[in-house]
Amino acid sequence: MDKADPFIRARGIGKHFGGVTALADVDMDIREGEVLALLGDNGAGKSTFVKVLAGAHQQNEGVLEVAGRSVVFASPQDAAGSGIATIFQELALSDNLTVTENIFLGRELTTKVAGFPILRRAEMRRRAIALLQELEAHIPDPDRPVAGLSGGQRQAVAICRALNINARLVIMDEPTAALAVAETRKVLTLVRRLAERGCAVVLISHNIADVMAVADRMIVFRRGRKIAETTRPDTHAEELVSFITGAHPSLRVLEQAH
Ligand SMILES: Nc1ncnc2c1ncn2[C@@H]1O[C@H](COP(=O)(O)OP(=O)(O)OP(=O)(O)O)[C@@H](O)[C@H]1O
Ligand SMILES: [Mg+2]
Repeated sequence: MDKADPFIRARGIGKHFGGVTALADVDMDIREGEVLALLGDNGAGKSTFVKVLAGAHQQNEGVLEVAGRSVVFASPQDAAGSGIATIFQELALSDNLTVTENIFLGRELTTKVAGFPILRRAEMRRRAIALLQELEAHIPDPDRPVAGLSGGQRQAVAICRALNINARLVIMDEPTAALAVAETRKVLTLVRRLAERGCAVVLISHNIADVMAVADRMIVFRRGRKIAETTRPDTHAEELVSFITGAHPSLRVLEQAH
């Protein structure tokens, strides 16, 4: 992979559910170290697109390249193996397990003793603490079950899990939708830290202020199509809203064509 190559290169991605076209002809490049926001009205196709990236859906049309290689992911595990981690809004944390156990869920460190796998608890705990510190996530006790954590702390645990699989792309689908102002700010700080570490971050959000605060680049979906692509210095909140609602003058021709 050339250094200038994007980590993800999607071309002509289409996805249908029966008669519904959820995605049509979507092209997208995603680079490491950038925060890319996906915007669009309800049902625009944002979640469907990231589910294709994450191996939860297979596209019906188009080509997906990861690190310069064409891929078809059969499952989210497959996508994780290529360094793509997804944090969905309905967070897949296990409430009754501790912070450390959640970070290592499905990837526990073990040693064999007399042929039996033994969990390396102390080492997992140390690594969990190091990850939490690196993100400056304020979680006092990695031995506590996650059930007692706030929404923002749960996001931090999910981000640590993504870092623990050495994700090169972290996808977050509406991570702050249910969070209060202070918690939202913490999660947005974590998003920037991920990008600074060289991760690509895809952030889906309906909150334009959040997007303007953290995203380097913005892509707007409408009715399954990518209708606008811009960068933070080149746009402003009102323009993004007009793309989302379809009121932007540049969209009139497009709307007539489809
Ligand atoms: N599993 C599915 N089966 C059938 N139709 C689906 C399925 N998933 C999504 N769709 C349809 O595909 C379209 C795009 O949905 P998607 O969930 O990607 O939208 P979205 O942009 O994420 O919206 P929101 O902002 O409301 O989350 C919608 O018309 C939706 O009804
Ligand atoms: Mg969605």
